[in-house]
Amino acid sequence: MIHGGAPAGWLELSASLNPLGTPAEVVSAIAAASYGRYADLDAADAEEHLAREAGVPASCVLLTAGATEAIRLVAEAFARSRRAVVVGPTYSEYARVGAGVGASVREARAVAPSFDPPVGEAIAAAREDAAIVFVCDPNNPTGRALDAAAIQALAFAPGRRSLLVLDASFAAFAEPTYEAREVIDGGRVVLVRSLTKRLATPGVRVGYVVASPEVVGPLRAARDPWTVGAHAVAAARAARWMLSAEERATVARWRDRLARGLAARGLVPVESDANFVLAHTVHASALVAELGRRRVALRDCSSFGLPDHVRVAVRPPQEQDVLFAAMSEIGAAVA
Ligand SMILES: Cc1ncc(COP(=O)(O)O)c(C=O)c1O
Repeated sequence: MIHGGAPAGWLELSASLNPLGTPAEVVSAIAAASYGRYADLDAADAEEHLAREAGVPASCVLLTAGATEAIRLVAEAFARSRRAVVVGPTYSEYARVGAGVGASVREARAVAPSFDPPVGEAIAAAREDAAIVFVCDPNNPTGRALDAAAIQALAFAPGRRSLLVLDASFAAFAEPTYEAREVIDGGRVVLVRSLTKRLATPGVRVGYVVASPEVVGPLRAARDPWTVGAHAVAAARAARWMLSAEERATVARWRDRLARGLAARGLVPVESDANFVLAHTVHASALVAELGRRRVALRDCSSFGLPDHVRVAVRPPQEQDVLFAAMSEIGAAVA
């Protein structure tokens, strides 16, 4: 699968979901969701709930069928036949949906080994009238996050005809560096939050946009009716975006353990702020194939233009040990 995703029964390290699992209150809300009436699709309560946590009015929130619907809606509403800039290497959907609405898409690309985000280039693009600048923060697949100063500079860079799309789908796992209400204040930032990763619910299809009402209005108008199902609405009503400090610390500890374990086996991990680690190895494709034979899925990063890298999801220590044991077993084949 182009976006990763292992068959059932595999150790899934190719898709990066919350390693703490689905929160109990979300599991209960989904199980109890009623779906026999159109009224079950009314997202108003869920939007109000998510808006309250984000510290913004409900008119600033739009519930979507995953971040995927949000990204497509923004491109459709704002980038048609214009220019878009993607800060890469990154998630391929930005370029795909941009091309799909006839935008000319250019990449401003971070380079190995550090993958420092090319903030200056992104700011210049936003000032020079690109319809949309897509920034993923923390970035998939590098795991690098922008610091507070870069976020501030980017948020206030776009001119009147430009928007910054800040895909924060993995931001719940990083230390917070900005408040939603601050970055959307200037009216030029569209914050996209996938609840898929946060809630570990890829089958539910739920996410949301936080933006000014002037941006949310056209997105709401452009969408198809009923895209967010009753289970997704129920999950959103029970969801919290923020992890607790303790939960973030656990993810960070597991991430460090993973990076150390990969380094001990000859890979070179990139510093990550997310719930995955990108690591360099010239044996990337052989490693992915050999692990696949053992039903362990890593993300081959060729589709990001990084054939010498793998992306590995942060999972609890006992699952990491299954990976490390498999790597030791095949060591000779890929060393
Ligand atoms: C950066 C990024 N944004 C959005 C998505 C899609 O999220 P969702 O499943 O909520 O549509 C992905 C999926 O991998 C992703 O990596």
